[in-house]
Order: sequence, then C-alpha cells, then structure tokens
Amino acid sequence: LILHADHELNCSAFAARVTASSLSDIYSAIVSAISALKGPLHGGANEQVMRMLKEIGTMDRARVWVEEALDNKQKVMGFGHRVYKNGDPRAKILRQLSEQVTKKSGHPEYYQMSDLIDETMQKEKGLLPNVDFYSASVYYGLGIPIDLFTPVFAASRVSGWLAHVFEQWTTNRIYRPRGKWAGKEGLSWVPIDKR
Ligand code: COA
Repeated sequence: LILHADHELNCSAFAARVTASSLSDIYSAIVSAISALKGPLHGGANEQVMRMLKEIGTMDRARVWVEEALDNKQKVMGFGHRVYKNGDPRAKILRQLSEQVTKKSGHPEYYQMSDLIDETMQKEKGLLPNVDFYSASVYYGLGIPIDLFTPVFAASRVSGWLAHVFEQWTTNRIYRPRGKWAGKEGLSWVPIDKR
C-alpha cells in the first residue's frame, strides 16, 4: 500500500487534478481518478497480469506464450513505463515480496512463471517490469480475489489523489491545454507546446 500511495503526475492523479481544477467537488475528482486508474494501461494492468499468468498456467508454456504475444504485436501487461525506461524501482521490491509470499501461500509457480516472463521480455523486447507485474502474484498470494486487485491499488492511491487535489486548490487555475487540428484522420489533434 505504501508503494502504491502516490506517483507524481500519472494518468489518474492528473485526471483528479483536471476535475478539481474546475472547482468541482472532491468526490468527483476522486471518481475521475478511479475511472482513469481502472484502464488496463494504468492500474487495471495488475488484474490483467494475473489473468495472463492463469492463462499460461505452467512454466513450460511461459516463454513461447510471450514470444507469440510479441510476434502478434500484443502488449504484455505489467511491462514498460512512460517514465522509467531503466526499470521501475517499485518492481524490484515487489519482486522480492512475490517470491516470499507465493512460497508461503503454496503457489511458488506464480513467482517462477513471472520471473521467466520477466527474463523473456527483457531479452526479446528490452522492456522491464513495472509496479503492476509482480504485485499481481503478491496480491494473489495474499488471497485477494483478482477482481479486487485494482480496487486495492485504488484504496492506497486515494491518499495521493487527495494530496494532489488539495495542492491543486492551493494555487488553482483551470486546466485548459490547447491543440491544433492536424488535418488527417487518425492524427486529429496535436498539442501545442505553449510556454
Ligand atoms: N508489451 C509489448 N510492447 C510494449 C509494451 C508492453 N507492455 N510496452 C511498450 N511496448 C512497446 C510499444 O508498443 C512501442 O513499440 P513500437 O515502438 O514498436 O510502437 C515501444 O514498446 C515503446 O513504447 P513506449 O513509448 O515506451 O510506451 P508508452 O510510454 O507509450 O506506454 C505504457 C507506457 C505503460 C502504457 C506501456 O508500456 C504499456 O502499455 N504497458 C502495458 C500496460 C501496463 O503494464 N500498464 C501499467 C503501467 S505502470
């Protein structure tokens, strides 16, 4: 929960700040953040990681599964990060916890499989695990139902979102980025970098 509590201007914290910036109420700001967090490219990834581990099922299938996913241009959940290109420091801590917790709970295969997927992703794509990758097997080992993985993340992140909202209100100005029509279907709006 401490590892998940806050993380700068990520997608959900930004969503909370945008809603707060219109002087909407605090509940609406947190609902905006939850709505952004639940997406599989953000906090929803932890559930997807566990579903992937379940689908792979056994160690001997892990490497081939990842290679096929990459060949099909599929995203492997729990890897990559917009900011951390050399590794997410939270993942290092969660990796150790995953080893301990899955062993204690009698499911060491989920750590072992995760470790092999991690190795394969680094080798094949040069991508490192993010906070959601090893937290999936940690939560599973703790007996948390998969449907509650992202809500557990959200429960922790509420502290960070609230801090962002209060900070936003101390020097508030409404968020209103500009964009210009790029004139091509699919490209649509491009942001204007106005300093
Ligand atoms: N699996 C496979 N390929 C991935 C990947 C993943 N998890 N993450 C990134 N890539 C690929 C991209 O498709 C892109 O390939 P391309 O150059 O052939 O188009 C390349 O790696 C560079 O991507 P990048 O620009 O670094 O990603 P981003 O900053 O736009 O997106 C994430 C960051 C986190 C959204 C992205 O890595 C992702 O979707 N990860 C999976 C979801 C996830 O775990 N989310 C939790 C984030 S904490």
